[in-house]
Order: sequence, then structure tokens, then C-alpha cells
Amino acid sequence: MGAKIGRIIGAQPQEIVIADSTSVNLFKLVTAALRLQQANWPDKTVIITDNGNFPSDIYILQGALDLLGGFTLKIVPVDLLVGATEAIVAAIDERTALVALSHTAFKSGYVYDMAQVTAAAHAAGALALWDLSHSVGAIPVDLNGASADFAVGCTYKYVNGGPGAPAFLFVREALHERVRNPVSGWFGQQEMFAFDLDYAPAAGIGRFLTGTPPLLSLAAIEPGIDLLLEADMSRLRAKSVQQTEFLIALWRDLLAPLGFTLNSPVDATRRGSHVSLGHAEALRIDLALIEAMNVLPDFRAPDNLRLGIAPLYTSFGDVYQAVLRMKRVVDERLYESFSAEGIAVT
Ligand SMILES: Cc1ncc(COP(=O)(O)O)c(C=O)c1O
Repeated sequence: MGAKIGRIIGAQPQEIVIADSTSVNLFKLVTAALRLQQANWPDKTVIITDNGNFPSDIYILQGALDLLGGFTLKIVPVDLLVGATEAIVAAIDERTALVALSHTAFKSGYVYDMAQVTAAAHAAGALALWDLSHSVGAIPVDLNGASADFAVGCTYKYVNGGPGAPAFLFVREALHERVRNPVSGWFGQQEMFAFDLDYAPAAGIGRFLTGTPPLLSLAAIEPGIDLLLEADMSRLRAKSVQQTEFLIALWRDLLAPLGFTLNSPVDATRRGSHVSLGHAEALRIDLALIEAMNVLPDFRAPDNLRLGIAPLYTSFGDVYQAVLRMKRVVDERLYESFSAEGIAVT
């Protein structure tokens, strides 16, 4: 299954495994990367991320740093509508040990230039780690083309696995024998059924496995991956760009006059497959759309209504209907019947 996902993100089959959750995989890879740097370049002590990264990724970084000691986290303030790639490149210097970013930003949908950031990291002797959760299955990714060192991602957004489906992790082949899994378990042991009492990491990417995979969830993600492979990522990307452009054109004509702002990049080459629209009443509009209009966006604080386009099955008609219903919710003030009090999941 890992090999199949590898085909849509530019990884070789021996560089990727499905395991655990994105959070756990991120912890494993951040720790492995920093231990590698610590052993070889003790003066490299800074981890770079951005202030629009998925907050849980930052929590994981903080947890790993707390455990390892000696490193500091630099959260670079960036504009995730335009220029974030350049801002991160400018922040990298000889003290940088690791650059850890979400390839596609979870709120705005901004897509980093992976090759440019990774090249800047490598030029400074740093490693680059990418969270592909909002990229995989949504836009073409070329980890090997960009010489990326590490990557993680989930299968429950554009890979169609559903919430809690297993995640994946990628390590560039040249690094395999130099990095260790901090959550060493029997699935990552050289001969797991020998049941030796001493841990010896398996050769290759297998050492990043820990325990028994959730077989039912694994079985459930395979058809989603097969459909993406059959459809072809470049064709899906072409449709997705047309659809986000269509959504933005509709926003301009129908929603901007009602107070909606565009909180995603205008430049399609820097935009993933979701579009966020801002509104002062975004949370109550979100509730009205879900409860009364059969449209399912997310609310992302402070004011984002995030509309995900899965080009495999979202139609242009769906996009048009969603915008018409958003317009109706505001035109007719339907959102006023909904309360944001006590909402736990947005
Ligand atoms: C970008 C990103 N990274 C990490 C995660 C965390 O994934 P999990 O809860 O499966 O560990 C998510 C979850 O939505 C995410 O969107």
C-alpha cells in the first residue's frame, strides 16, 4: 500500500510505509532527523517551521524538542497567501538543523515550493521534512524530484480513507541506514519472529514500523489509492485548478458583495485543492450550511470557511450549488438561527 501511495508522491516503493497516525509518524521522523544532526553537527540547533503550520505539528515538534534537549524552535511568521516560500528560504541559516513544514497549508491552502525550500535547507546543511496531509491525492507531489529527506501524511482527506485511516511516512533512501526509529517495536525489528530480547533495526524503511497495523482500515484505503492512480494526478490537478478558479470567480461575483473575503492564494500554482473564504459570521454560516443546506465545509478560526474540492468526485455543479447556498444563508440571514455556543468540533 505504501508503494502505491509512493507513486502519487514521487517516492520509490522502498522509501515509504503506511503506519500509525500522522502525528506519531511526525514524532518518529523529527526525532530521527534531529538525532542524526546532533551526532554529526552539534552546532545545528534550530528547527524552522511557520506560524500557519497545523498546530498539532508544532505540538509534536515541541514534544520532541523537550525530549531531546539542546534544540530551539523558530516559528517564522509568514504570509500564507503569497511569499511564504521566500520567507522560509530567507530564515534558513547555518544553525538550521531541520525545516519542518506542511506542504499545503491547512487554512489558506498555500503550497510551498518544495524543491526550492529543500534546496535551501540542503545548502545550509539542514534536513527537510514535509507534512503532505493536504497535498497527497490533491496535487502532484515529487518527493524524489525535490530531494526531500522526510515526509508524513494522512490518507483520510484526498486519499478517501476516512477519519482515523492509517498514515504514511517517507525517508529518502540514502538516509535509511543512518536514522533510528525512536518508537522501536517488533514490526521494525530485523527478525520480528525470532523474538530476540535486543532490538536491532530492520534494514531500510521497515525500521520505522512499530506495531501491528489496523488491517480493516488498511483494506479500506486501497480502493481510494487505486482510483487516484487510475485517474492520474496530473489530470486530477487540471480539474482541481479549474474548479478552484471557478469557485473564486463565483466568490468574486456572488459572495464578495456579502462580506466574504478570499483567504486563499490567487495564484493557482501556489494553491492546493481547498479554498478558504473569510466572513465575520463564518462559524454560524458553517453551522447553517451543515445543518440546513447539505454543504459540509469546515470552520477554521478565526473566520475561515474551508471548502475542500476532491477532484475525483466533486463536480462543477457541486461547487456552484455550494456557493448559491452560501449566498442564500447570508442573503436570508439563515445563520442567525444557529448558535456557536458549546460547539466542540468545527
Ligand atoms: C496537516 C496535518 N498534519 C497532521 C494532522 C494530524 O493527523 P492525526 O490526527 O491523524 O495524527 C492533521 C489532521 O488533520 C493535519 O491536517
